[in-house]
Amino acid sequence: MFLLCESACLPAVEYGYEFLGFRDGWRGPLEGDTVPLDIQAVRGILPRGGTILGSSRTNPLAESAAAGGRPGLERVKGNLAGLGVDALVAIGGEDTLGVAASLHAEGVPVVGVPKTIDNDLGATDYTFGFDTAVNIAMEAIDRLHTTAESHHRALIIEVMGRHAGWIALHAGMAGGANVILIPEKPFSLEKVCAYVEHRFQTRYAPLVVVAEGARPEEENLALSDQRLDSFGHVRLGGIGLMLADAIEKRTGKEARATVLGHIQRGGTPTAYDRVLATRFGVHAIRAVHDGAFGTMVALRGTEIVRAPLAEATRELKLVPPERYAEAEIFFG
Ligand code: F6P
Repeated sequence: MFLLCESACLPAVEYGYEFLGFRDGWRGPLEGDTVPLDIQAVRGILPRGGTILGSSRTNPLAESAAAGGRPGLERVKGNLAGLGVDALVAIGGEDTLGVAASLHAEGVPVVGVPKTIDNDLGATDYTFGFDTAVNIAMEAIDRLHTTAESHHRALIIEVMGRHAGWIALHAGMAGGANVILIPEKPFSLEKVCAYVEHRFQTRYAPLVVVAEGARPEEENLALSDQRLDSFGHVRLGGIGLMLADAIEKRTGKEARATVLGHIQRGGTPTAYDRVLATRFGVHAIRAVHDGAFGTMVALRGTEIVRAPLAEATRELKLVPPERYAEAEIFFG
């Protein structure tokens, strides 16, 4: 019995595999909460975003004290064995696949599939979900240009991405942003205001794209929420409003912020993401079939390859300075 990604049903059926879905991320394997995943269950999901299985921030590695002191990983292993699972396909970002890597180290046969809007997983050029988020953010920028122009305002758009600036970089370049601010490079408020003023001088209203994790060089910014989730992440958000306030004070021009938030994570996926997710699914099942456990399917150029899960989750893939420098050419 297998846990399969939703896009991989057909190849799995070809191999004669039977499969099962776990609900809500790692909560499912931790509590043994499953749902049948046959062809009928996955029909028609291609145009749907998100996941039919649900998600959660449950971290089995942080669950050691629960359930009579049995460590979370032991509970997961017990449930997998009890259900007769022969292989587990874990779909997600650094947190999900970090747990998958730990399970593999404990002898569980796991294959990973990179899925996050943040595009911050190592070993793969792209994760699925990213292209959809970028296109939504780009469209929002296109729409915001209207009000920026008609009302002569500086408009700030805050996008997600956690500690990586990929969404901001791609959406900002595609949308012709006045300046793009990313977590990888603390920004100078003075410089941002100079870009904004220059854009007004050229009679073209500025649009500033800021990643939720971006920080100014000059100030220590209060985060909107200091609570940590079970993976130790703080909830980001709030930099856009802070920036609008600072730009308005320094330039005397009206500045407004739009926080895109979960709009980026919903709705119809792009063709690129649908194809990538389907290809990842096909290759994940082949990896299971070949017994290539402890690997993650990854995109390199246009090819799907297998990379060690440990390599993919070792460190975040951040925007390299040279990539940011390409965007900087267009600032101001
Ligand atoms: O990792 C994906 C992501 O959307 C990040 O870009 C963002 O910081 C985070 O999840 C938000 O998570 P939540 O919806 O749990 O607040």
